Amino acid sequence: MTIVHETISTQLPGITCLPMSDFKTHRAKFFNKMETNSIAFFSAAGEVTRSNDTEYAFCQNKHFYYLTGFNEPDALLVLLKKDNSEQSILFSLPKDKHHEIWHGRRVGQDQACQHYNFDQSFVLDELTRLVPEYLNDLNQVYFCFDNTAMSQQIFTWLSLLRATVRQGNKVPEVLVDASPIINDFRLIKSANELAVMRQVNYISGLAHQRAMQKTAVGKFEYQIETELLHEFSRHGARHPAYASIVAGGDNANILHYTDNGEILKDNELLLIDAGGELSGYAADITRTFPVNGKFTKPQKLLYQLVLDTQLTVIAAIKPGITFIELNKIANEYLTQGLIDLAILSGDLTQLLIDKACKKYFIHGLGHWLGLDVHDVGDYHINENKEQCREFVAGMVLTIEPGLYMPNDDYDLDEKWRGIGIRIEDNIVITEQGYENLTVNSPKTVNEIEALMNHKI
Ligand code: GLY
Ligand code: MN
Ligand code: MN
Repeated sequence: MTIVHETISTQLPGITCLPMSDFKTHRAKFFNKMETNSIAFFSAAGEVTRSNDTEYAFCQNKHFYYLTGFNEPDALLVLLKKDNSEQSILFSLPKDKHHEIWHGRRVGQDQACQHYNFDQSFVLDELTRLVPEYLNDLNQVYFCFDNTAMSQQIFTWLSLLRATVRQGNKVPEVLVDASPIINDFRLIKSANELAVMRQVNYISGLAHQRAMQKTAVGKFEYQIETELLHEFSRHGARHPAYASIVAGGDNANILHYTDNGEILKDNELLLIDAGGELSGYAADITRTFPVNGKFTKPQKLLYQLVLDTQLTVIAAIKPGITFIELNKIANEYLTQGLIDLAILSGDLTQLLIDKACKKYFIHGLGHWLGLDVHDVGDYHINENKEQCREFVAGMVLTIEPGLYMPNDDYDLDEKWRGIGIRIEDNIVITEQGYENLTVNSPKTVNEIEALMNHKI
């Protein structure tokens, strides 16, 4: 493992975004799934108000982004497959000098065709005129059923068209949920997507290194969060992929702790779960380390158990294996380890049947990762959810075992209380086995203690 102390973006491996042609390829894949004489609608996200007239940082709808690479709010992608032709049509906000002076530049319709490779582009106001024309005489409409606003809009358009059937117009009769189709595409990453994910993982690894080196007794958790954001941004990952978890001591036992407002104390651990977002793609890395740079004995024992569990699980990863099998490996390893530490007692087989380790390992082993941190894609391949999906090359997932021993768990020996540990890496399934994207965040006890000795 290489520990990088100072790096500038130009020295990082990989690419920082997909070429525009890849988004056209994604649309071509969707066209292939469409029946002839059909249409698909995908809407962009809107801006979200934070308070009064201020908004949160814009985050594009990820299905829309996957199909367009277009990062403005309030746009609509139409895919029209009719009479042996396939048309990608973008509806977006118009160029508007006054609005752009106040709020920022817009792509506009000309650039949408030239830069983003759409066949046609119109201002949003044209929807009312053009959509009934598109819909007339088609058989099927594809859209994401979980997008309530889009669904309502489509029902309105269909009703308007239905009101004109006496004039000879014909209304599409089949509605198809587009989400499962796109979910399956997104689950398998292309070489370019993997290159971006490699890059954002590397950047996030640098951020975890920086956080370790900046951590000290008496600092606030949010001051370490700032160091993460600084490092993400410095290398091109302008935003975190999700709210960073910077949890000192017992706060680590709150799984989605994001207050990040407390002081870091001597002899406690700090759990950081944080990843940057680069061109829409997420990293999701967790590291746990001692605030003062040196693990106590009980911390080290539990830490080593979580780490060995993670390494054992990762070593088993290959095409054809499933999360169920990996969970079995993790549960067996953790349960035996907890028996060895006298935290659990009894017969291993019975403890496994009783799922005894779940008292301390309270979340799943991992999840898909991609444009979303908890990425889309079914974990099962049949409707009644009996059969777990086998891993195939191109999937990306996290492996994140943990142990959580809260302060108020009085069943536990006092020495374990207030310790929460998670170690999370991001893994690509390859033809041969796997590739660990998380290559530059220290995770052995020695690596962590050595790095923390080098304050910056
Ligand atoms: N960062 C959220 C998770 O690990 O699932
Ligand atoms: Mn995760
Ligand atoms: Mn995480």
